[in-house]
Amino acid sequence: MTPGEVDALLAVPALLAEALATPPGGELAAGTRLRTRFDPALVAAAFAQAEFRRRGRSKFTRSDEMLFTRDGLEQASTELVARHRASRLAGIGRIADLCCGIGGDLIALAAGREVLAVDRDATHLRLARHNAEVYEVGDGVTYLDADVREIPLPVEAVFLDPARRSGGSRLGPTATEPPLDWALGLAAHLPTVVKAAPGLPHGAVPPGWETEFVSVAGDLKEACLWSPQLATAASRATLLPSGATLLPAPGDPLPVAAPGPWLLDPDPAVTRAGLVQELGRSLGAWQIDPRIAFLSSDAALRTPFGRCHRVISSLPFRLKDIAVGVRAHSIGALDVRRRGLAGDVDDIRRRLPLGGPVRATLMLTRVSDRPWAMLCVDDDHPSESSTWKADTQ
Ligand SMILES: C[S@@+](CC[C@H](N)C(=O)[O-])C[C@H]1O[C@@H](n2cnc3c(N)ncnc32)[C@H](O)[C@@H]1O
Repeated sequence: MTPGEVDALLAVPALLAEALATPPGGELAAGTRLRTRFDPALVAAAFAQAEFRRRGRSKFTRSDEMLFTRDGLEQASTELVARHRASRLAGIGRIADLCCGIGGDLIALAAGREVLAVDRDATHLRLARHNAEVYEVGDGVTYLDADVREIPLPVEAVFLDPARRSGGSRLGPTATEPPLDWALGLAAHLPTVVKAAPGLPHGAVPPGWETEFVSVAGDLKEACLWSPQLATAASRATLLPSGATLLPAPGDPLPVAAPGPWLLDPDPAVTRAGLVQELGRSLGAWQIDPRIAFLSSDAALRTPFGRCHRVISSLPFRLKDIAVGVRAHSIGALDVRRRGLAGDVDDIRRRLPLGGPVRATLMLTRVSDRPWAMLCVDDDHPSESSTWKADTQ
């Protein structure tokens, strides 16, 4: 799509509305009807937008009015994460949104401040303008079609979300466009925030920067790098939508001991931020193995930073012993998770005698370097019974 085609599409709102209202499977008939009234290329573009708008609903509350490219939508920050990031920049005046894409971050950054939005993809820039208008934040935005490396930056701070896709395929965590080194170099002149892949190696971040790992509803979404002018710690785990945030706090190493009756599976943002020790200390928990992130305790661990499970069976990993536990506890639905242990989870599930009303989780891991299995139910699971005892071995 070119910027001109975006304008042509926006000039026929009825076509966009009809495409979005067409139920899946009805495109062929609706397309034939619409092509009698509109340019066929526009009809095709409208159906593509209808698909993007439906998919965009998981990222944007106003997706049904927005416009996207496939790559632009895939790479766009979700509204929730973008708002969280923008909230940390409150108090800073004019900001540059470098590599603004279709405007996922722009709609949050431009609320109540001036923004210089830059992208070298003229279509993305046009879509960012439209999307900022949808969110009614476009008034203070200046749009610039340019290479971000070739422009002056008359701003108080810079946000940069480099491209991590090329020709439709995903690049590695450090391979970005513009390159990560160039992005990090901006901090020599201006407070800088760089969005990065959550798999970014810790060694790629220079000393003095903060790496914030952000998860949404337990899914790790991204890393965000805050330059020394903005950093408040070396690392941080932030959980959305709650906004709960965990920071480093030095202390004694956690004790390591056999699994107890309760197990905490830390949120992936906590694990990636290297804050399992901090979380364990704050909860009075222990580790079941020095290299495994699971925490354990004698009492339920109530925290936003992980999922607490009641251990109903804890034993060395042998399929026939696990099968005995599955049958004894009438487990019919089993989620199998691995931590530090290889194995085909679907195959393991298939080979267990599942049947009965109980839903459970099988944790496959290592304890004192031995393959270990724990059958667990959620802390608040309705089938949990106070008479159950962990058949610990
Ligand atoms: C990850 S997307 C930005 C997503 C955006 N933050 C959002 O939430 O919608 C990256 C964008 O960088 C742009 N880009 C890549 N290299 C660039 C460069 N050197 N100068 C300007 N834009 C660039 C691409 O055109 C693409 O639109």
